[in-house]
Amino acid sequence: MSEDGQKVGSRGGNITIRQAEIDDLAAIFHLGEKVFTSQEFSNLYRTWDAYEVTTFFNQESENLIVADDDGFLAGFAIGTTIEKARSAWSYGHLVWLGVDPDYSRSGVGSLLFDRFKKLMKKQGVRMLMVDTQADNEPAIQFFRKKGFVNPTEHVYLTMQL
Ligand SMILES: CC(C)(COP(=O)(O)OP(=O)(O)OC[C@H]1O[C@@H](n2cnc3c(N)ncnc32)[C@H](O)[C@@H]1OP(=O)(O)O)[C@@H](O)C(=O)NCCC(=O)NCCS
Repeated sequence: MSEDGQKVGSRGGNITIRQAEIDDLAAIFHLGEKVFTSQEFSNLYRTWDAYEVTTFFNQESENLIVADDDGFLAGFAIGTTIEKARSAWSYGHLVWLGVDPDYSRSGVGSLLFDRFKKLMKKQGVRMLMVDTQADNEPAIQFFRKKGFVNPTEHVYLTMQL
């Protein structure tokens, strides 16, 4: 499967994986609203909102990529690199990955992830991290298929003040 010009998806166009441009931002935001369901929409440390898109675009636009189907946004990936204290390794975090349901299971997520992985390698990243809700089976299956291992459970606690 080639990364550019691949025929996938129900719309049958040619998918191009490329860096996001300013004109993509509204479509990315709205696709995120569609695919990040109420559970996915926010967690303790991230909320899907317009600032999430514009901040990544301003700060790390090279790590914001889109799947463009002849002008239609089929999906996007947003990530970042992280340096950890006392670690010589550089880490990559795939923060958001969203594919339009019309393109589900047609390889768009894989094309985006493969490009993201390549970008991270170029930036010296040695280990990639992803996280999602424990009941997001499609995403967990997807990440396993792409080679992620060692799922570790986190417990979040809250206290009303
Ligand atoms: C998870 C997601 C990105 C997958 O995108 P996609 O384009 O459908 O994935 P692909 O077509 O590349 O699938 C690759 C493999 O992942 C696995 N997979 C993907 N979707 C799956 C599903 N719904 N159920 C089970 N396995 C799934 C399969 O092994 C699939 O290979 P196969 O179709 O040959 O069996 C997409 O479903 C999505 O946007 N979900 C909502 C947002 C989300 O949860 N994002 C991740 C956390 S930020």
